[in-house]
Formats: sequence, structure tokens, C-alpha cells
Amino acid sequence: MNNTPVIIVSGSKGQLGYELQQQVAANSQFEYVFTDREELDITNAAQVRAEFEKHKPAFFINCAAYTAVDKAETDKDLALAINATAVGIIAECCKAYGTKLIHISTDYVFNGNGTAPYEPDETTDPVNYYGYSKLIGEEKAIAHNGPNTVIIRTSWVYSTHGHNFVKTMLRLMKERESISVVNDQVGSPTYARDLAIAIMKVVRQIQQTGKVENGFYHFSNSGVISWFDFAVAIKEIADLNCAVNGIPTSGYPTPAKRPAYSVMNTEKIKEVYGVKLPEWRESLKECMAALLNG
Ligand SMILES: NC(=O)c1ccc[n+]([C@@H]2O[C@H](COP(=O)([O-])OP(=O)(O)OC[C@H]3O[C@@H](n4cnc5c(N)ncnc54)[C@H](OP(=O)(O)O)[C@@H]3O)[C@@H](O)[C@H]2O)c1
Repeated sequence: MNNTPVIIVSGSKGQLGYELQQQVAANSQFEYVFTDREELDITNAAQVRAEFEKHKPAFFINCAAYTAVDKAETDKDLALAINATAVGIIAECCKAYGTKLIHISTDYVFNGNGTAPYEPDETTDPVNYYGYSKLIGEEKAIAHNGPNTVIIRTSWVYSTHGHNFVKTMLRLMKERESISVVNDQVGSPTYARDLAIAIMKVVRQIQQTGKVENGFYHFSNSGVISWFDFAVAIKEIADLNCAVNGIPTSGYPTPAKRPAYSVMNTEKIKEVYGVKLPEWRESLKECMAALLNG
């Protein structure tokens, strides 16, 4: 009988799911079951239960999510089904099978009116429906599988894979002579590869110690910038000529409101799980080198 602990990963074709697959290729400590939406639709309770019964996983890493922030304002039922109801189903199964749940959430659970980095236990108050749906997901994860659950909130995720700000900026900067980017929303970018490395560090520590330091954690790259700063850095690293103009949020109306101050305090994940948080520009350079040379 094979006693290698199994890790199920949902949302394997997303940015984070993809980067997790890159991380674990050479690691034989676990058996990985990477599932995309076709293989495991997390809103399908029967399918989720069958997957747990089949694999009796030691860990479930939930990278699946409804991430279209503006669309969520009108596509509320689906956003809630994926970001909240499905998380409840997964957490119930985790409870039934003694599975440790690593669930990914967002800085958008906070209202962005703060002036100091948000602590993991600070009061939540989402300003858009995506943030609300993710918050309900957090609550369901804790309610059903609290002692065996680690929730990692992250922000401004990008990678070489999928849709993200870095790839959009590179495309627009090549097409246009100038672009306008908001300069009054600040936060911290996260290279999905760094988050994937952090998640695997958390998983390995739990497996080695047999102890889940459960609850809420924050992970992003270190440093605080605006979207405008982010765009300027992308332009500089790619050595493009496009002019980048800073504009206020009021000059770029979107269906979903965005938090103005989206900075999270990331100390806890460093202290408890020994995770490293690379500096944002260094990680951006690494991702862009892969993008531009790939
Ligand atoms: N992207 C960001 O800037 C950001 C910021 C803060 C937090 N986060 C959080 O970080 C996590 C990872 O985000 P990401 O950037 O990797 O997202 P992503 O690239 O949008 O990937 C999400 C994946 O989930 C899949 N999915 C959607 N509904 C599903 C379902 N019912 N069953 C199974 N899979 C489903 C999607 O598949 P389809 O493509 O087929 O829909 C997609 O492959 C999420 O929890 C997200 O909320 C992201």
C-alpha cells in the first residue's frame, strides 16, 4: 500500500495553480493531484466528495477562485458559489477526512481606509462583491475545519502564466505611445511563484512537525507601491518608450470599487512558518525575464 501523503490542488490552470506545479515537479515527498475545473469543479459537491474519498488527501490547497473582480459585481451567484459555497464543501470534506486545508484569500476583504498595514486578525469590511464572496469563503473554511485550516491572503498577483497586470501593461506599452494608470491606490504585488514557494514551505513545516499553526496569514512581496509605480517599473525593466501618466482613481471608473490602501502586514507568516518574502522589484525582474525571454 502506498503511504505517500496526497496533496490535492484545485484550480491548477490558474496563475497560482500553475506556479505550484512548477515548484513540486522535483519533490517526491508527496503525491500531487493537480485538478483543473474540468477535472474537479469545486462547486460540484458530489465531485468534491468523490475526490476526497478516492485520495483521502493529507492536504487540500485551494487555488480555485472566481477572480474577475469587476464581473463579480453582476455575476454574484457564480462568484459566491465558487468563492464561498464551494469552500464550505471543501472544508466539510477536509473535516471528514482529517485533511489540512490551505485556502487562498485576498487583501480585498479589507476596506482600504487604513493607514497602517492590515494585521491578519484585523476587522474585515470588503468594499466589493468579490471581496465579500472571498470573506464568506474564509468564514466557511474556519467554521467547518478551523483547527486544520491555514488561510493565506495575498494581493496583486501576477505570473508568466494567465491574465495579470504585468502582461496587460507590457501589451499596452508596446501598442500605445502613452497610458494612464491610477496612482492613488497602494499595495504590494505578489509574484505567484513566490507565493507557491511559500505555500510549499507551510505544507512541509506542517508535515514535519505534525502541527497546524492555524488561522489567518498574509503574503505578498515586500514593499509598498501604487499601480502607477508598478507600471513605471514594468516599463523600465522592459526598456519601453511608452509614456506612463499617473491619474486618480476617479479618472478610471470601474464597476467594482477598489480599496485605496491595500497593504497587509506579512510578519506572521515569516515568524510562524519561516517563509521568505522577496522584494517586489526583484521578483518582478525575474518574472519579466522569463516573460521577455520565454
Ligand atoms: N489574481 C489576483 O490578483 C489575486 C489577488 C488577491 C488574491 N487572489 C487569490 O489568489 C488565489 C489564486 O488566484 P489566481 O490569480 O491564481 O487566479 P486565476 O489565475 O484566476 O485562477 C483561478 C483558477 O480557478 C479556476 N476555477 C474557477 N472556478 C472553478 C471551479 N468552480 N472549480 C475549479 N476551478 C475553478 C479557474 O478556472 P477557469 O479559468 O476555467 O475559470 C482558474 O484556473 C485565488 O484564491 C484568488 O482569489 C488573487
